[in-house]
Amino acid sequence: MIMVTGGAGYIGSHVCIALLDAGFDVVVVDNLSNSKRTSLDRVQAICGRSISFEKVDLRDEKAILRILRDFDVTAVVHLAGLKAVGDSHENPIGYYDNNFVGTLRLVSAMKTANVRKLIFSSSATVYGNPSYLPIDESHSLAPTNPYGRTKYFIEEMLRDLHGSDNDWSIAILRYFNPVGAHESGVIGEDPSGIPNNLLPLVAQVAIGKRKQLVVLGNDYPTHDGTGIRDFIHVVDLASGHLSALNHLKGPGILTTNLGTGRGTSVLEIVQAFESVSGSAVPHTIGDRRAGDVAACYADPTLAADLLGWKSTKTLVQMCADHWRWQSNNPNGYHPPTQPTSERDAPT
Ligand code: NAD
Ligand code: WQD
Repeated sequence: MIMVTGGAGYIGSHVCIALLDAGFDVVVVDNLSNSKRTSLDRVQAICGRSISFEKVDLRDEKAILRILRDFDVTAVVHLAGLKAVGDSHENPIGYYDNNFVGTLRLVSAMKTANVRKLIFSSSATVYGNPSYLPIDESHSLAPTNPYGRTKYFIEEMLRDLHGSDNDWSIAILRYFNPVGAHESGVIGEDPSGIPNNLLPLVAQVAIGKRKQLVVLGNDYPTHDGTGIRDFIHVVDLASGHLSALNHLKGPGILTTNLGTGRGTSVLEIVQAFESVSGSAVPHTIGDRRAGDVAACYADPTLAADLLGWKSTKTLVQMCADHWRWQSNNPNGYHPPTQPTSERDAPT
């Protein structure tokens, strides 16, 4: 049995599908602070298999210990966490508590239950401002925001944990920019309020929920002046977790990027989304966003060498799958509302 923390969330729901499809049994632990139980109902429908669910907070060590024992858990895929960079500046204590303390309680329960196999969701944000591109795993670590620092400190804690007890088997996965959705179009990213990330914003503009996209800077030293990122299909990302799980046969610790190695600019995303959706994405040019870097993309060589994993999906597939999810579920996992309601009015 594999425990998936944060399994009801955007990436976690796709990881559950990858695990179920590979024949693993799954128990999801999620406090539903940023997700809906419906996502797991849909995962079960897609896979034709059932999933166990425990509505539990990661920081409830006793409850985590009980679940590890009751379900005979052999490995944990740990995705639960808060992820909004802006919020983390406003509420660093909440971020350290939820992300760092939550992970501390989790590994403490795992140690007690003698479960020593862990896959952890880290982020490319741990690298900070790139000093060279593409970014490989030996790039310096200098996160520029509290969210990123929670990931950095968790990584350090996991390295110390492995240093203290070599029986631990740990994979630290540094995601670049996850986008897209399962090809069924029934699960996907469902941000609450105004999305922080580019693709959900583009999709909401394309469907008419927002009037326009503001391109945050067109004076970067890139080919078209807009920011460049390594967008990776969430299904590829999910399969990276399966590869890591299959790789973790014995003790050890590995840290690897999960990215495509390709950089795509904001304007290229807008163009690709327009052509896939057949809808216009009106946009204006605004100021740069504080803390943004010009370009950030992965060197994915280590994941290929170590895990035998590579991304397979194209930018067109990322946009098409994201669009299918958005257009089939304009309100995400929320029930439909009246078209005249405030929620549906373009902003
Ligand atoms: P998400 O918010 O959709 O999923 C996170 C899930 O964790 C949610 O279901 C939430 O309810 C749950 N959760 C949060 N705190 C919890 C707690 N204390 N106890 C139990 N459950 C809790 O986010 P996501 O995009 O799926 O991200 C998953 C992981 O990947 C996060 O750790 C995030 O930091 C990391 N990550 C995400 C991105 C990205 O751009 N989406 C990039 C790099 C890394
Ligand atoms: C991508 C590009 C923006 C919004 C963030 C987190 C990072 C990670 C992934 C979790 C940039 C531009 C955006 C808009 C725009 N999350 N943009 N108009 O900033 O690479 O990374 O999400 O670990 O920690 O920092 O992703 O999607 O916000 O932005 O022009 O309204 O889109 O300037 O160039 P980012 P993003």
